[in-house]
Amino acid sequence: MPVLSCIFCLPYNSMRVFLLILWCWVCSSSSSSTYKNLALASSHNSVDSFLSDAKPVTVVVTRITVLTAQDLITPDQSERHRKEKKRLLEQLNKNDKSSRNSRNRLLKALHGFSRCGERNLAELKRWKSHYGHVPRHQKKVLEQAVRYSEKLNINEQLIWKNHQLCEEIVRAALDFYDITSNELEGFIHESEAKSEPADRISVSQALKHYVRDWSGEGAHERKTFSCILNTLAVYAPPLEQRISNPLRVLIPGAGLGRLGFNITALDGYEVTTNEWSMFMNVAYRFLESRPNAGQHVFYPFIDSWSHHATTADLQRNVTFPDQRLDTSSVLLVEGDFTTAFQGSRDSFDFIVTHFFIDTARNLMSYLETIHTTLRKGGYWINSGPLLYGSGPWVQLSLDEIIAVSEHLGFEFLEMGPTCGESTFPGKKVRWIAGIYGSNERALNINGYRVQSWVARKK
Ligand SMILES: *[C@@H]1O[C@H](CO)[C@@H](O)[C@H](O)[C@H]1NC(C)=O
Ligand SMILES: *[C@@H]1O[C@H](CO)[C@@H](O)[C@H](O)[C@H]1NC(C)=O
Repeated sequence: MPVLSCIFCLPYNSMRVFLLILWCWVCSSSSSSTYKNLALASSHNSVDSFLSDAKPVTVVVTRITVLTAQDLITPDQSERHRKEKKRLLEQLNKNDKSSRNSRNRLLKALHGFSRCGERNLAELKRWKSHYGHVPRHQKKVLEQAVRYSEKLNINEQLIWKNHQLCEEIVRAALDFYDITSNELEGFIHESEAKSEPADRISVSQALKHYVRDWSGEGAHERKTFSCILNTLAVYAPPLEQRISNPLRVLIPGAGLGRLGFNITALDGYEVTTNEWSMFMNVAYRFLESRPNAGQHVFYPFIDSWSHHATTADLQRNVTFPDQRLDTSSVLLVEGDFTTAFQGSRDSFDFIVTHFFIDTARNLMSYLETIHTTLRKGGYWINSGPLLYGSGPWVQLSLDEIIAVSEHLGFEFLEMGPTCGESTFPGKKVRWIAGIYGSNERALNINGYRVQSWVARKK
């Protein structure tokens, strides 16, 4: 007991190190094959697949998170977070073209969130006016059978509840990015005078990512993570080596960052995420400033009335985040992937692209950037569809992506069965069905044959 209470007096980081030493000591006293199984099982989602051929496994606790009252008030900040924030704010305040452009994109996103109530209400008013066309005797049926007007009115109330969340998001962003409400109001006024309305769709998509990345309901969409986590487990050095020398992982196009948090939870990884969309970044900064589990609630599905089995489904709320974010563990670097890491040649051990490569304007620049930022012998893990957006300069089929990547100096390697079936004979690419759409109760399914591969920089 004295030993135990002494451990609990240690600051968080030293305690982790202490526990890991303890862990390694336990491992070294067991046989090496049990050790390997254990290391794999601990980083696997589906421990099940291991149990089938498993001998009895010793479970050792490698991580205990102790929250102090202070943690609950101020989110954790590491040195690299402080440095990156300084760089970001300096960059947003410069007066060159690219900085003005970033600031403008940020203000546009804030404009969108500031007007999320009004813009959705305008849409609802349109639906109300359409309902006005329905002949009186039919309306009577609709009102008696399902109280259609009440549904419209409840939705209006829920729009304003969502608006409160949007307002909190804006407040957190003004604070984080050090922008005055005067500047934002000026921007909004100018934009609306030029008939540039707030972007309703991008706000809605960013909010839906709270469901996809950070709610219990989104878990079915995160199933594709297990292929990535298992592939890391296969190609990363064992835990004891990773702890003394954490592997640097970069995740471009990270959205609201869940995959990055899932990777740091494995220990021995230093994760950097990257995102270009200011709508996503603003939504992420909110989470980062208020990271406690179950802290927020909203109604993500009220803006589209298609594909609902019941009106209760349509109007249901979703709570997020489903887990507290350890905000000191993942670093978000905002900006364009092809330029933000120009100073980081040969520096990452892993680059993980999840639902990302098809977002490129110029796919070749993405592939080149992945290649130059990886160290020699580093790994690129991909998982995602090939849904080219608007105006891509090149649109490659999967076989062409493989050929081009090999040409650039990547060697494709084997992946485990959690990554699904082989996509075509003789090629080391696999696929699993992946759902994208955030509403697990919807009557439609939007999905892809998500393509996965791992390739080493030669
Ligand atoms: C990582 O993913 C698994 C499976 O989705 C989940 O159970 C776990 O809580 C996640 N961990 C973090 C820190 O997100
Ligand atoms: C969210 O939905 C749950 C389940 O229907 C309900 O119990 C809860 O009161 C709702 N919370 C809010 C804030 O609407």
